Amino acid sequence: MPIPERRLILRHADEPGYSPDIGSYLKHGGYDALRKALASSPDAIATEVKASGLRGRGGAGFSCGLKWSFIPKNNTKPVYLICNADESEPGTFKDRQIIHKDPHQLLEGMAITAYAIGSRLAYIYIRGEFPEGARILERAIAEARAASFLGKDILGSGFGLDIHVHRGAGAYICGEETGLIESLEGKRPYPRIKPPYFPAVLGLYMCPTVVNNVETLCNVKHIVGMGGAEYARLGRPNNTGTRILCVSGDVRRPGYYEFEVGAVTIGQLIHDVCGGVRDGNRLKAIIPGGSSAKVLRAGDTFAIRRRKADGTVEAISLGLEDIPLDFDSLADAGSMAGSGGIIVMDHTRDMVEALANINEFYAHESCGQCTPCREGSLWMKKITARMLSGRGRASDPDLLASVANNIAGRTICAFGEACAWPTQSFVEKFRDEFDARATAPAKEVPRAA
Ligand SMILES: Cc1cc2nc3c(=O)[nH]c(=O)nc-3n(C[C@H](O)[C@H](O)[C@H](O)COP(=O)(O)O)c2cc1C
Ligand code: SF4
Repeated sequence: MPIPERRLILRHADEPGYSPDIGSYLKHGGYDALRKALASSPDAIATEVKASGLRGRGGAGFSCGLKWSFIPKNNTKPVYLICNADESEPGTFKDRQIIHKDPHQLLEGMAITAYAIGSRLAYIYIRGEFPEGARILERAIAEARAASFLGKDILGSGFGLDIHVHRGAGAYICGEETGLIESLEGKRPYPRIKPPYFPAVLGLYMCPTVVNNVETLCNVKHIVGMGGAEYARLGRPNNTGTRILCVSGDVRRPGYYEFEVGAVTIGQLIHDVCGGVRDGNRLKAIIPGGSSAKVLRAGDTFAIRRRKADGTVEAISLGLEDIPLDFDSLADAGSMAGSGGIIVMDHTRDMVEALANINEFYAHESCGQCTPCREGSLWMKKITARMLSGRGRASDPDLLASVANNIAGRTICAFGEACAWPTQSFVEKFRDEFDARATAPAKEVPRAA
């Protein structure tokens, strides 16, 4: 029995006849939340967002309300809002759906956010490979300006906001917020070191800047619409709202699905929502939050803390398929909810091949500023490639782990962890496969008949 979704962000996206035009959006209550927000104070909006418990949907799951509050109180510089639409994490394909199918929802969320943080100029930094998304956004912005939802004096409120679309530079690292800011300033996307360059204090043009993901900003519209407390009732304590899950890999029905956070377990998602593992195969592993999240192995047990409504916490032991898909449970399991990209692998998957594929990506995408990341990502790629080619050495699994351990925690940005975590977790969890492959001859690639 398929489990019904709880669609909030994608409520209208796939409805027959619903289009990205402003007409469709207005017919469905579009921009009502902006009117409501403008009738109240910026501080009141920020308070609602804090009360909602909204956590960022871009990767780190950081509290949205808390992030906004880091803008210095005595600030006299311009404040910028940036929507991170780079969507570069492999396995993630939700932001593009929102932009293509419901762009005004994002613009409304951005307008409300800008009002709350005191920003008059906002940017949507969209992945360069999404030209159609950029065109759709430009059209939507023009429609919103014409209807006075953007511009100098929005709906006669005295509040003004302009939004510019900026097409990305075609690199994964442009999704990292400080790399993104550098790129937006017209430079190479070299991430900045934190501290001191926390965007909320020293962001775009060294001014306070809030960077939020597309899905996060869409949630703001709904929080204002229903109120922070009501929103917080969706999902679980500390894991509120809904989440779009992008499922790819070895399932019968891959795609994007939206549920209250933690409402489905890994097993329910795979079997009841996605139709089960393909070809009747067995589940081997999943990567729960985009390719940089640590892999989780079927058959393992995980110590998960369950936070109850009264605030108390109980510890339980769960199998992989019983883990609820929420931020805290996946962190307890030793991985992360990340960007919501869930990659399912069945028992036919060769884990050395899978890691080699991931390593190739990260070696290509390192910006090269830090030696451990630049050299280490390349070493990891070369080691897994030589294991596949039959030229591996018995010491390679240990060498892989050692290289990864010397990257994580020693770099300017979190790309270091993003490229080290797959190697650390694959080698640890599938050590037998790595040992066997280290000294095996090259695997024959099956020929098409
Ligand atoms: C290497 C790297 C790549 C990232 N790519 C993205 C991305 O494509 N989209 C995104 O929203 N966040 C990405 N992030 C996270 C951003 O740095 C930032 O935390 C996020 O945009 C904040 O938004 P949120 O608080 O709404 O999640 C990336 C982070 C790292 C370290
Ligand atoms: S960790 Fe990697 S991607 Fe990040 S700044 Fe250093 S070299 Fe660049």
